[in-house]
Amino acid sequence: MKKEVMLVVGAGQISMAIARRMGAGKKIVMGDKKIENVQAIAKVMNEAGYDVEIQEMDLSSRESIVSFIEYAKSFGEISMLVNGAGVSPSQAPISVILNVDLYGTAVLLEEVGKVIKEGGVGVTISSQSGWRMPQLTPQQDRALAMTPCEELLELDFLQEENIENTLHAYQLAKRCNEKRVMYEAIRWSERGARLNAIAPGIIVTPLAIDEFNGPRGDFYKNMFAKCPARRPGTADEVANVAELLMSDKGAFISGSTFLMDGGATASYYYGPLQP
Ligand SMILES: NC(=O)c1ccc[n+]([C@@H]2O[C@H](COP(=O)([O-])OP(=O)(O)OC[C@H]3O[C@@H](n4cnc5c(N)ncnc54)[C@H](O)[C@@H]3O)[C@@H](O)[C@H]2O)c1
Repeated sequence: MKKEVMLVVGAGQISMAIARRMGAGKKIVMGDKKIENVQAIAKVMNEAGYDVEIQEMDLSSRESIVSFIEYAKSFGEISMLVNGAGVSPSQAPISVILNVDLYGTAVLLEEVGKVIKEGGVGVTISSQSGWRMPQLTPQQDRALAMTPCEELLELDFLQEENIENTLHAYQLAKRCNEKRVMYEAIRWSERGARLNAIAPGIIVTPLAIDEFNGPRGDFYKNMFAKCPARRPGTADEVANVAELLMSDKGAFISGSTFLMDGGATASYYYGPLQP
């Protein structure tokens, strides 16, 4: 009997935590641009009783996403999507952040939406960082939500001359993820499937450690020291939210973004973290 497939993009700590929480009994097909990352995660998970297959793939390429989905389908129907791939502001230049985090996520949600099994569920990881960026205009929000993927990076406000720095690019990408989730949740519902985003605050992973050691390191350390939780979060705590969103308990939740940041956004607007 073929198993149901959980498609996991990005072999990072958040992906692994969600895959461990929700992937027992499933065929987990995991891809990453860095083959050594996905090999390492698959080893840990296969030695812990999970059933993981791997492929090198690049979220910034539609061709790579489509061939990854085809590979996954050879094992069975895709009933779950976890997208925990991404690059942070200290890891990549503006163009890479826009190609991976913004465009790639939009394509992935579109392509998986064409094949997701009836009753299936997906989560993609946006970020609390996007919540610190001022509101965009309603027209810009709509453009992020609904512009055909191949035209997204032609939008005027996504041109490099209109983007201040890599943090701004990351925030725009993460805002786009959340708008795209709203738009795609409607398409996914035509297949009886649900789609949501999780916007975590600082979660200790290799990506966050690169931020602690990058140009905004002091800012992030201050952020978790002064947020209501007084600490950074863990990938397993992100999995707690994913479990709600991806289980039957979350049956009434679709097109949503769940902010989980130890209260950092609240403090940024109305508390000691105000700029
Ligand atoms: N860690 C945090 O504090 C934090 C906070 C908010 C949001 N996020 C988001 O969570 C997601 C997961 O990050 P993480 O913290 O688990 O980091 P991580 O570094 O553990 O994992 C990220 C993975 O994405 C992979 N990746 C990068 N570019 C790729 C590409 N083009 N194609 C395929 N894979 C690619 C990396 O190789 C890496 O294995 C990211 O989207 C990140 O922006 C993280």
